Amino acid sequence: MVTGGAGYIGSHAVLALQQAGYKVVVLDNLVYGHRDLVETVLKAKLIEGDTNDRPLLDQLFASHDIAAVMHFAAYAYVGESVSDPAKYYRNNVIGTLTLLEAMLAANIKKFVFSSTCATYGIPEIVPIPEDHPQAPINPYGASKLMVERILADFDVAHQFKSVCFRYFNAAGADPQGRLGEDHEPETHLIPLVLQTALGKREAISVFGTDYPTPDGTCIRDYIHVTDLASAHVLGAEYLLKGGDSQVFNLGNGSGFSVKQVIETARQVTRRPITVIEQDRRPGDPPALTGSSEKAQTTLGWQPQYADLTQIIQHAWAWHQKRH
Ligand SMILES: NC(=O)c1ccc[n+]([C@@H]2O[C@H](COP(=O)([O-])OP(=O)(O)OC[C@H]3O[C@@H](n4cnc5c(N)ncnc54)[C@H](O)[C@@H]3O)[C@@H](O)[C@H]2O)c1
Repeated sequence: MVTGGAGYIGSHAVLALQQAGYKVVVLDNLVYGHRDLVETVLKAKLIEGDTNDRPLLDQLFASHDIAAVMHFAAYAYVGESVSDPAKYYRNNVIGTLTLLEAMLAANIKKFVFSSTCATYGIPEIVPIPEDHPQAPINPYGASKLMVERILADFDVAHQFKSVCFRYFNAAGADPQGRLGEDHEPETHLIPLVLQTALGKREAISVFGTDYPTPDGTCIRDYIHVTDLASAHVLGAEYLLKGGDSQVFNLGNGSGFSVKQVIETARQVTRRPITVIEQDRRPGDPPALTGSSEKAQTTLGWQPQYADLTQIIQHAWAWHQKRH
């Protein structure tokens, strides 16, 4: 079962699971997800419902033979989590706890979880290793860290096995153009830059040009969504083979600056992209990149699309098709 399978990363994971030969059922409340991606594109079974709905979960687990759960369903707007923390703790923590208890009751004990680099807070070193201290600076990151803690405790108490993937910035789209990023509202840099190229936005704001980085703008780690999806399949298979609970970073290892992203988007789209330079935003570290060595050595994961041009080409093809 894939929760949040009608969303951006979850839908790519459903595709990767199907390509690996698995049968998938999607649980999504469609607050942000897209029915057409699941039913028309992926042709997977969609159960429209919420992770907070325990009777629905009990019925779902009783009526399907589910080997493992991949859990993408969450709210993920950092700014909103600061202004409305209860919304985030209710959905991301209580919703997940409800799901975990329903899984325990159904004796399903394999769980792949979408965590985030936001659990680290301001990094002391980059690339960030998995044993870096976790000190989130917003309720979104805190909600994900709480779930990581619950999963560690469930392992001790119930031998409940999980793989937590702490991802950096998911980007790109299915290389064949079947799926892609369609957030509303959109807050991620690459789709915002591409919307500017499409003329849907007048300009792209760059927050801070005086950071201690080669071109003065922030460096972030962009990981292709198809590479994220393949890691999830490997994570689930690792658990199905009896693997112990693990935590993995998923990133590219090398980051790209905001200016590099915009310049690459100009080259890919061959369109003008107007930039407005603004002051730094509070809480934005100069560089945020992660080491994925552990996922590569333990799971045998190999990112296929680490090149920024390719990531933006795939995203651009999708944006032109979808919009
Ligand atoms: N996009 C990123 O760069 C990024 C980075 C790190 C971690 N993550 C995590 O990855 C996961 C997926 O992110 P995304 O970008 O695909 O987001 P998304 O909003 O596109 O997908 C989330 C999906 O979950 C559904 N959903 C939300 N709450 C639900 C609930 N209570 N019950 C059922 N369905 C629910 C939404 O309708 C949506 O389809 C999230 O958990 C997010 O925190 C994302």
